[in-house]
Amino acid sequence: MKQSTGIKVTLKAAVTVDGKIATGSGHSKWITGDAARLKAHQLRHENDAILVGINTVLTDDPELTVRGIEEGRSPVRIVLDSKARIPGQSRLFQNDSVPVIIITGNQAPSRIWPDLAELKIIEAPEETPDILWVLSELKKLGLKSLLVEGGSLIHASFLKSNCVDQLALFMAPKIIGGQDSLSWCGDLNVENVKDACQLDISSITTLGEDWFISAKLK
Ligand SMILES: NC(=O)c1ccc[n+]([C@@H]2O[C@H](COP(=O)([O-])OP(=O)(O)OC[C@H]3O[C@@H](n4cnc5c(N)ncnc54)[C@H](OP(=O)(O)O)[C@@H]3O)[C@@H](O)[C@H]2O)c1
Repeated sequence: MKQSTGIKVTLKAAVTVDGKIATGSGHSKWITGDAARLKAHQLRHENDAILVGINTVLTDDPELTVRGIEEGRSPVRIVLDSKARIPGQSRLFQNDSVPVIIITGNQAPSRIWPDLAELKIIEAPEETPDILWVLSELKKLGLKSLLVEGGSLIHASFLKSNCVDQLALFMAPKIIGGQDSLSWCGDLNVENVKDACQLDISSITTLGEDWFISAKLK
């Protein structure tokens, strides 16, 4: 049953037709082409905040800003980082005009954070931030919509918390294959197909060589 959180949550991923977001070695740039990437920036512009897991920051070092959109507004950037592992030199910290929120767990080691006006550190009341708790904190900050940009473990946690409204999948006509390459969504403990997450497809559009699939969670 969908949890009412007051925040519209959209999961976004760029995937191959076999649902992979990275190769076995963690390489993920670039799965989709320019048109899909522009649409992804449009989605960022339309949301109040973007959220990623710490592994995505450690692997991809993303800036998580809006680029290429006329009068594009960059949303608040959020990282779930239980153990406060995010490197001080991350690109996220190099643009102080866009707020960054790092959400740690209550067992994170103390550390020196970059001295930035727009950096906020929030400590969760548990070792690993609980997704519904995170959403309640974001609501307190006045945020109303959240684009979750992965990776695999973060997407799975959001789906398991039953708080997802929409899926925005960019699908490239490529196959990565392999057991070690990550799928866009981690383990959901689904043993029987009848227990799989059910979607209502809203639209499928072509973006250059790729497809954009917009779907609602039933
Ligand atoms: N193609 C795409 O669209 C795309 C997008 C994003 C990422 N990627 C790829 O995905 C890979 C990273 O994905 P990943 O699944 O390994 O990691 P991830 O989802 O980016 O990060 C997971 C980590 O976040 C932390 N975390 C904190 N609270 C959490 C919670 N409630 N639930 C889950 N995790 C929580 C945990 O680390 P701590 O315990 O240390 O906090 C966890 O190990 C990279 O290879 C990246 O390139 C691809």
